Amino acid sequence: MAKRTVVVMPGDGIGKLVMPEALRVLEAAGFEADWVEADIGWDHWIRDGNPLPQRTIDLIAKHKVALFGAITSKPKDKAVEELSPEHKDKGFVYFSPIVGLRQRFNLDISIRPCPTFTGNPLNFIRRGADGQPEEPRVDAVIFRQNTEGLYGGIEWTNPPPVVHDALATHPKFKAFADVPTEDLAISTRVFTRNACRRICEGGFAYAEKHGYSNVTVCEKPNVLRETSGLMIAEARKVHEKYPKIDLWETNIDAQMMWLTKNPEDYGVIVAGNMFGDIISDGFAGLVGGLGFAASANIGDDIGVFEPTHGSAPKYVELDPPIVNPIAMIMSAVMMLDWLGETDIAERIRAAVADVVAKGEVRTYDMHKVRGGANSIAQGAATTIQMTNAVIAALG
Ligand code: NAI
Ligand code: MG
Repeated sequence: MAKRTVVVMPGDGIGKLVMPEALRVLEAAGFEADWVEADIGWDHWIRDGNPLPQRTIDLIAKHKVALFGAITSKPKDKAVEELSPEHKDKGFVYFSPIVGLRQRFNLDISIRPCPTFTGNPLNFIRRGADGQPEEPRVDAVIFRQNTEGLYGGIEWTNPPPVVHDALATHPKFKAFADVPTEDLAISTRVFTRNACRRICEGGFAYAEKHGYSNVTVCEKPNVLRETSGLMIAEARKVHEKYPKIDLWETNIDAQMMWLTKNPEDYGVIVAGNMFGDIISDGFAGLVGGLGFAASANIGDDIGVFEPTHGSAPKYVELDPPIVNPIAMIMSAVMMLDWLGETDIAERIRAAVADVVAKGEVRTYDMHKVRGGANSIAQGAATTIQMTNAVIAALG
C-alpha cells in the first residue's frame, strides 16, 4: 500500500500533548504515513487574527485526511482583547476553527462511538430489580448532523429590520412584537432535507455494516415540528431500505432520562447538531467520559478525526502530563477504519481494551483522583505511561 499523507493538527492545550501519543501508537502498530503538521487554533488567532489559516485548509483539501487535537475558544470580547496589538482594530471576529472546518469541507456526518471497555472503573453502574449492582454493556454510536441546525451560526442580537419584519409575518411572533429589537436575541435552527437524509443514511448504513439491530432517531418533533419533523420524515424514508433494522423514535429529553435506565438497548442514534452533541456527551459519560470519547467528522471524501474533549488548559502546564490519551488514540483508530486499515485498527482497539481490562495503568480520571500535580503520587499513570502500556499491549 502506498504511503499516505495525514494532516496533523495538534491545536491548543492538551491537543498538543495527546497528538504525539496517538502518532506513536499508530506507528508502533505498523501504520506508515507521512505526517504533515498544520496550524490551527488560538496562537494563530492572536498572531494573525485567523485561527484557521488558508494554508491549513489547502493541506486538508489536498490530502483528504486529518487528525485534530483540540482548540481553545473564548467569548467574542475576550478573543478580541487577546489579539496582538497590530490586529486589535481590524474588525477580526473570532470563530471556532473546528466548526469552521466542518462547514468549509461539509463534514456533515459526525460519528461518536461510545463502547464500554470492560474493567473501566468509570463505567456506569446501576442497581437491578434484585437490588444487585449491574454494569450494562453500552455500545451506542451517535450519528450527529454536523453542519447545520443550531450550530449553523445564523443568529442575531438586535436583529436588522428586514429580519424582524420577516419574523413578524409568523403568527407566533405576536408575543414578541413589542419587545425592543435591542432586547431580542435570535438563533436559528435550519435543517435541510439533504443533510437530514445524509445523516440518516449514514446511520442506517453503519448499523447494517456493523450488525446493529436498531437505529434511534432522537429529536423533538412534538415541539420542533418543522425541523425535527423533517429529520423523522427522512429517517422513515431511509428506513424503508433497511427492513431488517428497527427504527425507534425518541425525544431528546426522554432519551436523556432513559440513558441511565436502559443504555444497553441502543445501537445507532441519529440526531441533529445540538441534540447529537448533548446525547453523545450523555453516552460518553456512561463509558468513561472525555478521556475516552472519540469522534469522526466525515464529508464526501474528507475525514477529520478528533477526541470530543477540548484543550483542558488547566492540565497543559503539568510536567509530566497526566491527561488520558485514549480519546485521541481511539480517534486515530476511527481514522484507520475510514482508510480501510481495519486490521491495524482492530489491533489498537484490542490493545486499549487489554490495558483498561488489566487495570494496572490508569490515568488520573480512571484512578478517580483529582487531576493535578499530586495525581501521580496518588497512583495515577502519566499520559506517556498510558501510551506505553497501549503500545506494549499491541499483539
Ligand atoms: P475540556 O474538554 O477541555 O475539559 C473539561 C474537563 O474534562 C477537563 O478539565 C478535565 O477534567 C476533563 N478532560 C478533558 N480531556 C481529558 C483527557 N484527555 N483526560 C482526562 N480528562 C480530560 O472542556 P472545557 O474545559 O469546557 O474547555 C476548555 C477549552 O476547550 C475551551 O476553550 C473550549 O472552548 C475548548 N473546547 C474545544 C473543543 C474542541 O476542540 N473540539 C471541544 C470542547 C471545548
Ligand atoms: Mg460537545
